[in-house]
Amino acid sequence: MTNTLFPEGFLWGGATAANQVEGGFNEGNKGPNMADVLPGGKERLKVLKQADFDFEPKPGTHYPNHEAIDFYHRYKEDIALFAEMGFKVFRMSIAWSRIFPKGTEKEPNEEGLAFYDRVFDELHKHNIEPVVTISHYEMPLHLVKEYGGWKSREVIGFFDQYVQALFNRFKNKVKYWMTFNEINSAMHFPIMSMGFTINDGNDKYQELFQAFHHQFVASSMAVKHARKIMPEAEIGCMIIAAPIYSYDSNPENVLYALQEEQRFNYFAGDVHVRGEYPAFIQRFFEENNVKLDIREGDLELIRDYTVDYVGLSYYMSITQKKNKEDAETAAGNLLEGVKNPFLKASDWGWEIDATGLRIILNKLYDRYQVPLFVVENGLGAYDKVEEDGSIQDDYRIDYLRTHILAMGEAVQDGVELMGYTSWGCIDLVSMSSGEYSKRYGFIYVDKHDDGSGTQERRKKKSFDWYKQVIETNGAAL
Ligand code: BG6
Repeated sequence: MTNTLFPEGFLWGGATAANQVEGGFNEGNKGPNMADVLPGGKERLKVLKQADFDFEPKPGTHYPNHEAIDFYHRYKEDIALFAEMGFKVFRMSIAWSRIFPKGTEKEPNEEGLAFYDRVFDELHKHNIEPVVTISHYEMPLHLVKEYGGWKSREVIGFFDQYVQALFNRFKNKVKYWMTFNEINSAMHFPIMSMGFTINDGNDKYQELFQAFHHQFVASSMAVKHARKIMPEAEIGCMIIAAPIYSYDSNPENVLYALQEEQRFNYFAGDVHVRGEYPAFIQRFFEENNVKLDIREGDLELIRDYTVDYVGLSYYMSITQKKNKEDAETAAGNLLEGVKNPFLKASDWGWEIDATGLRIILNKLYDRYQVPLFVVENGLGAYDKVEEDGSIQDDYRIDYLRTHILAMGEAVQDGVELMGYTSWGCIDLVSMSSGEYSKRYGFIYVDKHDDGSGTQERRKKKSFDWYKQVIETNGAAL
């Protein structure tokens, strides 16, 4: 065996989110959440960018997250497969509306808590440590419709009681937590993490950054509770990490890329890790007429309760040019930008850039000097089941190999990296397209875009490959 690039005890595993795997959308007293009203296919993408989505279910529409891959009933079988691959950790989220169906109740829903107790127990039975995201794109629908999501300061209080219910119940079962999934995604599509849509009006940034402020306060409150209720736990933030390159060496483009990078990659991380609003955002606020309503004690809380680590997702880099008119856009990249001539793209047009992962890990570590944790990365691709039943997903293996190697190089560069949980370790419903056919897993699930399929699980070629990666701590790639 060749030498590994990874430290001993590196946390290898896979990642999911409740709304994309569980199904059972109206079982166990769960209330409806935001993901339950998102359509599948092309309609989903429109909704993400739409300014006036009404969050009303439409008769005759297929809602893929209602059934998802039925993890709600099949978690034992799935966890056994994760254990077979040797997972050390499993990243999952808790569906807020299973615990507080509307978000506003005074007492948590026991059936919801009991479900997660069973999942955590099953994981521990297989020596797999859960890594839990408290809020992953699945806010109770009631809070979205009646309160306008995170626009409302009142939501901090509802989130706070949810957090306390989780910590008090699961303090002995969960060591690794994260507050908000991809908090900075709101810069491009606030609907998923903030629960509201944005009009391109004058108050666009006002609403957006006020909602960010509410989430920052809520996140610090969670850290404060964690310190008290479970001092051994580690609690992180979670951001989309995407290095932003300048299109060329024109200083105007370099400056533009820098500013985009500051706002996108660093703004939220700075508040979570450094405990204060960064200097560059003050100018942005002034120029865009943003006046935050900051209440007494907010800034002290944010300063005193910073996170232990930075969780991040990595799918693509972004290339930016100040004047985009004469450049081709990177069509599939959810985060916009122009096409990078040096990169190929996935079936969904997401530009593939393994070196970008090494770059952003270095940048984030240089800036924050706290441990980083890659909690999402992977390739969404079409898979074909061969006549003999096998799935030869060499393209996925290639993608993961190059990204894991880049990550290993970052470790050698001196980056303190806790672990790696590849996204969608089992096929699931895509967040941005609501499709099943955008597959990320080592485990194939017989479920299709029209809702048909047996839900049968099947190992892909990448299953044994990843098992070996974990077994050798990243030496056998
Ligand atoms: C991240 C999200 O943005 O990317 C996940 O945290 C999502 O929820 C993942 O599934 C991949 O995106 P998509 O759109 O291919 O599912």
